[in-house]
Amino acid sequence: MATVTIRLSRPHPKQAEILASPARFRVLACGRRFGKTVYGLHRLVRPALDGRPVAWFAPSYKYLGEVWRDFGRALKPVIARTNRTEGRIELITGGSIEFWSLEDEDAGRSRKYAHVVVDEAAKCRNLEAAWNGAIRPTLTDYRGGADFLSTPKGRDFFWRAWTWGQDPLETEWASWQLPTVCNPFIDPAEVEAARRQMPERLFRQEFLAEFLDDAGGVFRRVAESIDRGRSGNRCLMEPRRTYSMGIDLARIEDFTVVTVIDNTGRQLYFDRFNQISWERQLASIRQAASWYRPVIYCDSTGVGDPIFERLVNAGLDAYPYQLTNASKQQLIDHLAMELEHGKLRLMDVPEQEAELLAFQYELTKTRKVRMAAPEGMHDDCVIALALAAWGAGGAGVRVDSIGVF
Ligand SMILES: Nc1ncnc2c1ncn2[C@@H]1O[C@H](COP(=O)(O)OP(=O)(O)O)[C@@H](O)[C@H]1O
Ligand SMILES: [Mg+2]
Repeated sequence: MATVTIRLSRPHPKQAEILASPARFRVLACGRRFGKTVYGLHRLVRPALDGRPVAWFAPSYKYLGEVWRDFGRALKPVIARTNRTEGRIELITGGSIEFWSLEDEDAGRSRKYAHVVVDEAAKCRNLEAAWNGAIRPTLTDYRGGADFLSTPKGRDFFWRAWTWGQDPLETEWASWQLPTVCNPFIDPAEVEAARRQMPERLFRQEFLAEFLDDAGGVFRRVAESIDRGRSGNRCLMEPRRTYSMGIDLARIEDFTVVTVIDNTGRQLYFDRFNQISWERQLASIRQAASWYRPVIYCDSTGVGDPIFERLVNAGLDAYPYQLTNASKQQLIDHLAMELEHGKLRLMDVPEQEAELLAFQYELTKTRKVRMAAPEGMHDDCVIALALAAWGAGGAGVRVDSIGVF
């Protein structure tokens, strides 16, 4: 009988320890590059070679390309057929591996699996509903098992599942929390370099795999900074106050937001609009500017540039702010500091509050820190407020070049 050899990397010690666990459901909270995906591959290859159906779930299609190739490469000698469109690899043993994006509402529906892996579990929106409604039922027939793999992201469903793994009474569940440095193939010096380059909380989450209360949130003390019930844009000019206006201009899908704060840090004006003509937007900006006579900081990136020109031509005291990755970071850091030190009193505007709370640090693929709204959310309230706070901070030292990069 011909023998076929499958070559897989040898699991590193921590991966081997978890692979040996008899728990039916396993939750691995691990730092970035711990080796979660490699572990998941090991986990599914065995039952598939034994002739059973297994599945890989990820938050979206973009996570599936690489792992599809990894499986294809590892199992090449035993593949009977592959179907990329259906996301299915069939083996000559009768086993199969199916790949699902959890963006797809029908993911896994009416399938039967002997084992599943949910990769980047904390990035899946509605993980709880997907688990209960779609994934868990696929395991009934074979009494299959599941592995949840992820870097933590706050106290979400992934975290709850992780706590079941720590509970001796939940006998089917086991969980681990392991830092990136457990992976002997990652140079510890690289991890140290990352530590120096990023906010400490983000490092603890991404490399030490800690579940943080405020996840990757950038702004703290948001709730304490809001005057509950204070809304409305009444012009309350007071003696010896100066005013600063921040304007974030709409791009294709988002909003134009105009915010005014005074030099004591009190937010006095908030306006948000989309899909109205630039003429009407300019008119309402000019109106607010006529009340407060503010220094104006306006996002002048791209479409903002001609609008900025119009503000200057209208005789307003306007300054451009080019939003690049670096200048945005500086702007946001400044706002974060003002909030943290209790220097701002904000109006009670639900969409502004929601954006501030959701705004988060992100690590890019090249491991640069980026600050942004989560997918599907806007950040225009945040940018407008940050520009207003920037202007208020700079009032009195109105150097033309502030904020121009
Ligand atoms: N057992 C192993 N043997 C060799 N290399 C490994 C092993 N486990 C992980 N690696 C390598 O470490 C890096 C991170 O692994 P990966 O599984 O992508 O991590 P994660 O999914 O946790 O971010 C990859 O380059 C991978 O090839
Ligand atoms: Mg991975």
